[in-house]
Amino acid sequence: MYADNQIRRKTVRDIARLKGERPVVSLTAYTAPMAAALDPHVDFLLVGDSLAMVLYGMESTIGVTLDTMIEHTKAVMRGSQRALVILDMPFGSFEESKQQAFHNGARVLRETGCAAIKLEGGAAMADTIAYLVARNIPVMAHIGLRPQAVHVMGGYRTQGRNQQERIQMIEDAYAVQKAGAFAVVLEGITESVATEITEKLDIITIGIGASANCDGQILVVEDMLGYFPSNAKFVKRFAEVGTTIEAAVGQYADEVRARSFPAPEHTYGLKPKS
Ligand code: KIV
Repeated sequence: MYADNQIRRKTVRDIARLKGERPVVSLTAYTAPMAAALDPHVDFLLVGDSLAMVLYGMESTIGVTLDTMIEHTKAVMRGSQRALVILDMPFGSFEESKQQAFHNGARVLRETGCAAIKLEGGAAMADTIAYLVARNIPVMAHIGLRPQAVHVMGGYRTQGRNQQERIQMIEDAYAVQKAGAFAVVLEGITESVATEITEKLDIITIGIGASANCDGQILVVEDMLGYFPSNAKFVKRFAEVGTTIEAAVGQYADEVRARSFPAPEHTYGLKPKS
């Protein structure tokens, strides 16, 4: 039972109910302080495997491990109170078998306290999604441009630009809905396909590079803050945090070299005699 004044964390049902009501707001977060800053504004926080590039300087998401994702998700849980937190299952942690996916998904829920996982894949992952949902692991699916499939897709390419891709995308969307996913991320797909999927599905669609017609939006927070060099068309920079940091650090370096920092107000003296 919750006391009246206790803050309640959003659930997957809360998010699912927003379909047709209002747009779902979400961002990625990987650390406790960032989670705390975003928490009052978003419906859910995704601990995305994009942290491989954004935090760890890797070239793709392929190298990130489940252990790393778990530690960052614990931090995001500590930093947030209201938002649903979702862990993005990294490459190799769920594809081998339904049992592997359940084993790792259960570990995620148990060790982090988060309430859902995301996994990349459409029709090919439908059996796995059904297996997880039947065993009480809520799943957000992810179709369209799938960064973990970079090597088979031959790079990061907008999806749904021809009839064959459009049909595949719609089949994927139906398959993950039928399997029991509570929502699906549509990444890097054309506006017309995203609109069609959003209108046809009963579950929430979350767009990233998939137009304003999705049920909600997500961005990598460092991209929208201007703290990671992204030239993707779909990224709007709402701030230029990288420039602010550069200016502040430059000023710090100048002041240290000039011995004007620390100033007297930053310096401990003798205790005044009483
Ligand atoms: O890893 C990630 O950040 C994602 C996105 C949907 C933003 O999967």
